[in-house]
Amino acid sequence: MKKLYIETYGCQMNVNDTEVVFSILAKHGYARTENIAEADVIMANTCSIRDNAEQRIWGRIDYFNTFRKAKPGLVVGILGCMAERLKDALLDTGKVDVVAGPDAYRNLPALLEAVGEGHPQINVELSREETYGDISPVRIDKNGVSAFISIMRGCNNVCSYCVVPYTRGSERSRDWHTIVREACECVEAGYKEVTLLGQNVDSYKYEDVDFAKLLALVAGVSPTLRVRFSTSHPKDISNAVIDTMAAWPNICHHIHLPVQSGNDRILEKMRRRYTREWYLERVAKIREVMPDCGITTDAIVGFCSETEEEFRDTLSIFEEVGYDSAFMFNYSERPGTLASRNYPDDIPLEVKTRRLNELIELQNRLSLESNRRDVGREFEVLVEGPSKKGESQLCGRTGSNKMCVWDDTDHKAGDYVRVRVIDCTSATLLCEPV
Ligand code: SAH
Ligand code: SF4
Ligand code: F3S
Repeated sequence: MKKLYIETYGCQMNVNDTEVVFSILAKHGYARTENIAEADVIMANTCSIRDNAEQRIWGRIDYFNTFRKAKPGLVVGILGCMAERLKDALLDTGKVDVVAGPDAYRNLPALLEAVGEGHPQINVELSREETYGDISPVRIDKNGVSAFISIMRGCNNVCSYCVVPYTRGSERSRDWHTIVREACECVEAGYKEVTLLGQNVDSYKYEDVDFAKLLALVAGVSPTLRVRFSTSHPKDISNAVIDTMAAWPNICHHIHLPVQSGNDRILEKMRRRYTREWYLERVAKIREVMPDCGITTDAIVGFCSETEEEFRDTLSIFEEVGYDSAFMFNYSERPGTLASRNYPDDIPLEVKTRRLNELIELQNRLSLESNRRDVGREFEVLVEGPSKKGESQLCGRTGSNKMCVWDDTDHKAGDYVRVRVIDCTSATLLCEPV
């Protein structure tokens, strides 16, 4: 067996893609290693979402090449979104042997074989059909508790700032039979939680199964299997999805609902296709049906032409919703996107960063307030393993996706434990078993 090492960057879908690649290559004589020094093939599964994500990879390519001295036959490969976007530029470095885009992984065994003949190999063809639906991913997470299941690929939304539609191609939904089968395999392998992944899960559609129906099908696999999903698009999240979440006790009450901006002019310019009012109505609906639902978000500050006042609208929507947590970013212009073609990236970096810090500071307060409201409450938590503090303290998440820690030597990863919150920080609920 040859030894294959893969570093994964970017989103959860990329993590799951790496698992698909391990599965495909395992059938062709490649065994996974976590030790880069012993690898015959070193790959990075890359992300293009922001410029700094790409910058990091150039440095990694140089690092991977330092292993050639000790391993003359070493193959260096770049997979994923940056492979798709920068194709030839990667080959031009002379430091990369294989470049494969997100829809070309079935071709990897052939590409790797052909590298032996001396030339760099590339396949960045995007597909309208590929979903890797028949492939059982080789799980790379260590805890054996929680697994990702990709339910769709690509994206048709073309938000003006976003590179994903170009790197991942058009949207396609995976055959629901294979999704349900994979959830069953997860249960048989001892997993207790699955997260259904897509750039816009609410537009899932295969035959007559939409996302609400799919959720119910997966939740029906086992009452002790927790079901999560990501990402919901505010324009598409339906009442049927919200009602299905409420109806099934094993569907976690957490929705990641990226707002991006709280200002209508900016939302329009971002081509998000909802308004602040629409977004707040969706949040109100979620809270009406599931008062305990965790709501988290993503936001971009300093998008093209964003004024100080428009940025204040993002602060105020954060305050109004009271998010449990958020991922927040400086706008990063991506070549080829609608925004980069049509609008100048005109907010100076210092201004972006000042706005970002202000938003992060606000979110830290909101996270702390949200956690304080949970002090005294009880939750059913799925144990993920020991906490950072060590073996006598466990950690795990509530259904609403808050991290809990508590002293416990009686339980192990994969157990459900009832805990009471006794204190908190902005990031963690400090608990005791009930
Ligand atoms: N499909 C998901 C988002 C995937 S990308 C959705 O529509 O919500 C994850 C996050 O990265 C986005 O929500 C956005 O906040 C951020 N992001 C995407 N493109 C960006 C860019 N050009 N600059 C800064 N942040 C960006
Ligand atoms: Fe990008 Fe928008 Fe698609 Fe999300 S929905 S991946 S932000 S284009
Ligand atoms: Fe990055 Fe591609 Fe995911 S750009 S965020 S790895 S879809």
